[in-house]
Amino acid sequence: MNAAVANIGVVGLAVMGSNLARNLASREGNKVAVYNRSREKTDALVVEHPEAGFAPAFSYEDFAASLSKPRTAIIMVKAGRGTDAVIDELVKVFEPGDIIVDGGNAYFPDTIRREKAVRETGINFVGAGISGGEEGALLGPSIMPGGSDESWVTLGPILKSIAAVAEGEPCVTHIGHDGAGHFVKMVHNGIEYADMQLIAEAYDLIRRGTGKTPAEIADVFAEWNKGELESYLIEITAEVLRQVDAETGKPLVDVILDQAGAKGTGAWTVQTALSLGVPVSGIAEATFARSLSSHPEQRAVAASLPGPDEAFEVADVDAFIEDVRLALFASKIIAYSQGFDEIRAGAAEYDWTIDLSAVSKIWRAGCIIRAQFLNRIADAYVDAPDLPVLATAPYFAAALTDGQAAWRRVVVAATQAGIPSPAFSSSLAYYDGLRADRLPAALVQGQRDFFGAHTYKRIDKEGTFHTLWSGDRTEIEAEDTH
Ligand code: 6PG
Repeated sequence: MNAAVANIGVVGLAVMGSNLARNLASREGNKVAVYNRSREKTDALVVEHPEAGFAPAFSYEDFAASLSKPRTAIIMVKAGRGTDAVIDELVKVFEPGDIIVDGGNAYFPDTIRREKAVRETGINFVGAGISGGEEGALLGPSIMPGGSDESWVTLGPILKSIAAVAEGEPCVTHIGHDGAGHFVKMVHNGIEYADMQLIAEAYDLIRRGTGKTPAEIADVFAEWNKGELESYLIEITAEVLRQVDAETGKPLVDVILDQAGAKGTGAWTVQTALSLGVPVSGIAEATFARSLSSHPEQRAVAASLPGPDEAFEVADVDAFIEDVRLALFASKIIAYSQGFDEIRAGAAEYDWTIDLSAVSKIWRAGCIIRAQFLNRIADAYVDAPDLPVLATAPYFAAALTDGQAAWRRVVVAATQAGIPSPAFSSSLAYYDGLRADRLPAALVQGQRDFFGAHTYKRIDKEGTFHTLWSGDRTEIEAEDTH
């Protein structure tokens, strides 16, 4: 039986788990126990990284015996049934006060369910979003743990030892109880979808409007990355656009099939927002754009539908590119504003206390949406923790003021040229909806009352009303009858 020498353990040694284990082992004060269902991966990791000083285990009993109390283990297996299987095994060999962490991309309701079930054994269960991919796991991810206050006492210092660092602060914070961490990671991924779609639309507009090559557009993005759009996704976009396909000598982006995949976190973000009544139009359109791209059979038959086919030539290339940059930044502000709205609504629904400035701070480094402007979001929520709409914070309101004319020109140009810009245009529609003095929702209320007697409110007096549409059309005071 192994001696209790490790302060942290990792179960699941595929690339993410191995990299996380190596990151943990590289930090002063950590001794890492490692376990994998097939022992080959455990053996390989120990042999390939002797410097890590891993404590390998080849059974769950050995793994538990390797850990000093409170035993703390991070599960790094593919989200789903595999997670439940590992939890079941760890619960058998752990004791009250020990800590089980799920570091996968679990769906937050599953985490809420698991935390409740495991808590009955006295063991702590923590759902932790870990963002940054394989490189982040090794060098420093952004980490979004939920779970109990008790678990954070032990887990916090360990996660702080491996997290990315921004402005001298580790990119990890105790997000909130039970599923809060996985909820915030889910919204992170939804924002990621919106960010990626907006960048893709900007690329498409410039490509089709100016005839620039991918490598030339890479230079545009590299230039943008020096300013307020500075971010990991802008940076890697330039790299992807520069890549030449070795086989054909063509830009790689031109030989990649234009059908986008999705593992589901964007869909979860949108489904959850719908149930919470929070518009996340940028994230939704980005998710649907991936779905649309992945219906080649429909696209093939729809190709015959009429639309603009004249070449889309811009008169002033530099001015157009600047318009696209301004439209991209404005749309990005809306996407993040909507994402933070969803986090706030989720906190209210699930009774979590989530510090939105702390969330934006831990996204400044390590995660996929890391960006310079997360500092501005953090500032906004520090200045006004209950800010009703992030987009109205002074910095962002000024950016939207500066950019909204360009934004409109770009959406008009895209529409007239027949270039799909669902994320740009839906974000602009949301912006205009949010600031509108009167919305056509008044007519919708009238329609609902006409066919369903769903009643309506009035602008000029208190009460709930219904019109007797099939009778003399008088208005009566009513309770909502449905
Ligand atoms: C991260 C990434 C990670 C995963 C994406 C891919 O934060 O490190 O978001 O979780 O690579 O979720 O998901 P899609 O396949 O849905 O784009």
